Amino acid sequence: MNVTVIGAGTMGNGIAHVFAQSGHAVTLVDLDQSRLDAALGTIDANLGRQVKKERITAEQQEATLGRIATQTDLARGVSEADLVVEAATEDATLKAKIFEQMDDAAPEAAILASNTSSISITQIAAATRRPDQVIGMHFFNPVPVMTLVEVVRGLATSDATYETVRQLSEDLGKVPVEVNDAAGFVSNRVLMPMVNEAVFCVHEGVATAEAVDTVMKLGMAHPMGPLTLADFIGLDVCLAILEVLHRELGEDKYRPCPLLRKMVAAGYLGRKSGQGFYTYD
Ligand code: CAA
Repeated sequence: MNVTVIGAGTMGNGIAHVFAQSGHAVTLVDLDQSRLDAALGTIDANLGRQVKKERITAEQQEATLGRIATQTDLARGVSEADLVVEAATEDATLKAKIFEQMDDAAPEAAILASNTSSISITQIAAATRRPDQVIGMHFFNPVPVMTLVEVVRGLATSDATYETVRQLSEDLGKVPVEVNDAAGFVSNRVLMPMVNEAVFCVHEGVATAEAVDTVMKLGMAHPMGPLTLADFIGLDVCLAILEVLHRELGEDKYRPCPLLRKMVAAGYLGRKSGQGFYTYD
């Protein structure tokens, strides 16, 4: 299958990695060639980890990289796609624009999927003339490691589109879970209030970030504490998701903590900016 991935950030490069690894021809699209080059470097390094752990061979690493082409022009990038997975910034206006352009340039039969973590699939689909072929394909970071794909059905998503994406997710070695279109779907509706509450604990002086994380790691067996996880996801992404939950569901329990807003305003975005609840080299 020809798969095009839009956006070469953390999620985009992980998605390109897993599709290429399972034998698909991948075109990775971003506006900026330097971001594409950086993404290929990251994919190479992550494949290198798998080689070191003897999960794949050096030949498979080379072959996987060889299946990934890059493109800075969106229309050209989707022109031969059977499936497009959009993993651009979490911004509803931007996504609507990208889907409109993809709808114009992609083959008629192509499925247009979004990796959005909280924006309505029904709303994204409305920007196209093929809402029955639009679906959410929500992966988790690090994509090569996390086995879940939250498959989100918009109001108009057809059974055929759902079935293709479900089967494809299984072929990638992932476990697809069917979810209907609602703010934050299941994953972030459950995860983000916990992350937000952890930030409130620091904001209100209940405990330090380290203490909050240790409680959740050792007491609840979470692989990462919620604030380490927030830094890993990106504090800007966490804030954007909470804003959607708060706006769409209209309840105070989703109100983003003022400390989270303040940190994002300061450019403390977590691991990717070098500073969040923790400092990174
Ligand atoms: N690519 C390939 N392999 C990777 C990798 C990557 N990017 N990152 C880690 N790995 C591999 C390692 O090589 C290692 O492999 P083995 O099991 O074969 O040894 C394995 O993953 C574990 O890695 P580490 O030993 O380096 O570190 P760890 O044991 O501390 O695990 C972690 C790291 C997998 C990230 C773990 O801490 C974890 O599961 N954290 C929680 C992650 C999580 O919750 N993600 C979801 C975030 S929410 C989201 O993404 C969606 C959203 O909408 C916001």
